[in-house]
Amino acid sequence: MKKRSVILDCDPGQDDAVAILLALSSTENFDLLGITAVAGNVPLSITESNARRICELGGRPDIKVFAGASQPLMRKLVTAEWIHGKTGIDGADLPDPVMPLQDDHAVDFIISSCMSAPDKSITVCLLGPMTNMALAMVKEPRIVPKIYEIVCMGGAVKELGNTTPAAEFNIYVDPHAAKIVVDSDVPLIMMPLDVTHKALVTPSRLQDFKNLNSPVGNACGGMLDYFNRFDMTRYGFDGGPLHDPCVIAYLIEPEIFRGRKVHLEIEVSSELTMGQTVADWWNVEEKIPNAYICDDLDSEKFFRLLTRRLATL
Ligand code: RIB
Ligand code: CA
Repeated sequence: MKKRSVILDCDPGQDDAVAILLALSSTENFDLLGITAVAGNVPLSITESNARRICELGGRPDIKVFAGASQPLMRKLVTAEWIHGKTGIDGADLPDPVMPLQDDHAVDFIISSCMSAPDKSITVCLLGPMTNMALAMVKEPRIVPKIYEIVCMGGAVKELGNTTPAAEFNIYVDPHAAKIVVDSDVPLIMMPLDVTHKALVTPSRLQDFKNLNSPVGNACGGMLDYFNRFDMTRYGFDGGPLHDPCVIAYLIEPEIFRGRKVHLEIEVSSELTMGQTVADWWNVEEKIPNAYICDDLDSEKFFRLLTRRLATL
């Protein structure tokens, strides 16, 4: 079977970092064409350098990393240092990157990668605000038929939001970008808080990472030790939710996840519910479904896959 060609867009972020490492350990499953960074958890200058730090940690200084949008399409950038720390990957003490940042803008890389590929051959993973993807679609609409599917972490359907009562962070930060992507009719797989809040880094799972006794295992252990504390306090979970790696795990073993195809729209009018992912879960309006939204996973299989793959780096 021909391997997928994958573009990974992210805003590292501890959970983005673990997702990048899972992607780097999965060269048998897909070709990683490049990593594009966007402003989100922390400003762009930090997310792009973190993406390079993590590639070097994973032994892949050859990976092309591109810097993208420094702010959302319409709204002021909202960051999340209060969760991720000022470095965005607090808990991991990684050196400044040596590998170069690519000269091209991330949006131009997404466009050139898609335009040079056959139809329906590119998979795009979105782990942060969707600004880069939306800009690419607006700048060059001909990329849309080139995309096989977009797999994203974002949204909250039956769950409440984690940034406002109505909205999850990635969608809240750039709701207009999310609307462009959702309305593009590109096949969309969404991993909202409904599923990621079931992917909890419990103390035993955290210890499994630390027991790898490797630079990758130690960095993941340190990062998740730091990242866990916020959600455990807020929700009373027995671990922090590992949001972004759900996207990469879906590419490797989709059967770990369960969901349904529904009609999805993004709220961009009301400030009260800005960025809400309004999914017709019970099909009450009988509109055409445009997203496959996951609401459950086999968490034991997920963490077994993740730990085994990280052990190979
Ligand atoms: O709401 C969780 C999402 O926002 C994750 O992608 C996290 O990294 C932040 O980007
Ligand atoms: Ca992220």
